Amino acid sequence: MNFPQYRPRRLRKSAIIRKMVRETELSASDLILPLFVIHGSAVRNPITSMPGHYQYSVDLIGKEAKEAWEAGVSAVILFGIPAEKDEIGKSAFDSEGPVPLAIKAIKESIPEMLVITDVCMCEYTSHGHCGVLHNGYVDNDSTLELLGREALTHAEAGADMIAPSDMMDGRVGMIRKILDRNGYSEVPIMSYAAKYSSAYYGPFRDAAGSTPESGDRKSYQMDPANSNEAMREVALDIGEGADIVMVKPALPYLDIIRRVKDEFDYPVAAYNVSGEYSMVKAAAEKGWIDGEAVMMETLLSIKRAGADIIITYFAKEAAKLLKGS
Ligand code: PBG
Ligand code: ZN
Repeated sequence: MNFPQYRPRRLRKSAIIRKMVRETELSASDLILPLFVIHGSAVRNPITSMPGHYQYSVDLIGKEAKEAWEAGVSAVILFGIPAEKDEIGKSAFDSEGPVPLAIKAIKESIPEMLVITDVCMCEYTSHGHCGVLHNGYVDNDSTLELLGREALTHAEAGADMIAPSDMMDGRVGMIRKILDRNGYSEVPIMSYAAKYSSAYYGPFRDAAGSTPESGDRKSYQMDPANSNEAMREVALDIGEGADIVMVKPALPYLDIIRRVKDEFDYPVAAYNVSGEYSMVKAAAEKGWIDGEAVMMETLLSIKRAGADIIITYFAKEAAKLLKGS
């Protein structure tokens, strides 16, 4: 049908019609809020590059989770900042570390909250890499066992879901095996399957204190130029038992989100990362954009691209707006 018989504007006439034919709906239940948990007590350090976000100590994290819950957020993902860092990141599997304690604190404060944990070594190693260094190179296979222990520590503390973000080969299979052997076969894995080596992680590394001391993450995170390789990464993780596959970052990789959704038809998560958040906040602060409108359009675009789940620092703000709509 062509003009003048067909006039697309007919279905844009009123808010009611527009809503009726809307193809994508964003909902608060799609959103996961990242939280940074630091050792110590009574700590609430503002993260300067991420306005509205803080490093919380365990005693304050329950209250923060409750606020998020009341705003409409039903899931959080935890990142830990430990007191001690060493070459191999031993505090990653300390059952008294910030993440295990925070899981318990959040469950106590709001038992229904879905608590997901990020599993990686970079917050725990003195050199800031996501695995063990052998002659300056991140060694794959010896890192796997450490990741398995970290995941098990989180599961034992009550984590509802494990999210490995390290990009070592074979880690999903290793974590699945260790969880299963220890009675946690019901704990799902959301793998950072296609995680790119991205400059958009800048603010996060300030927040988590995880900037590599030397070098970069290009030998394990993906080359931003590659799309077919992302499909192979996703296929591997699914083969090893991933329940949800993630693409990260989100906005510069909407094409990857769409391909993963079309080619695998698995639950897809997208990580709207720190740099994506900070850019919006900075421009809004300057009055150059309408921050709220850009936030909602951004999240909607990620959903439209094919994501079922969005990890975003906007979760609380967006959930509040969605509640009102
Ligand atoms: C740790 C990890 C990172 C992010 C999530 N988990 C940083 C990195 O890989 O350097 C990035 C999150 C963000 O930028 O918001 N492996
Ligand atoms: Zn890492």
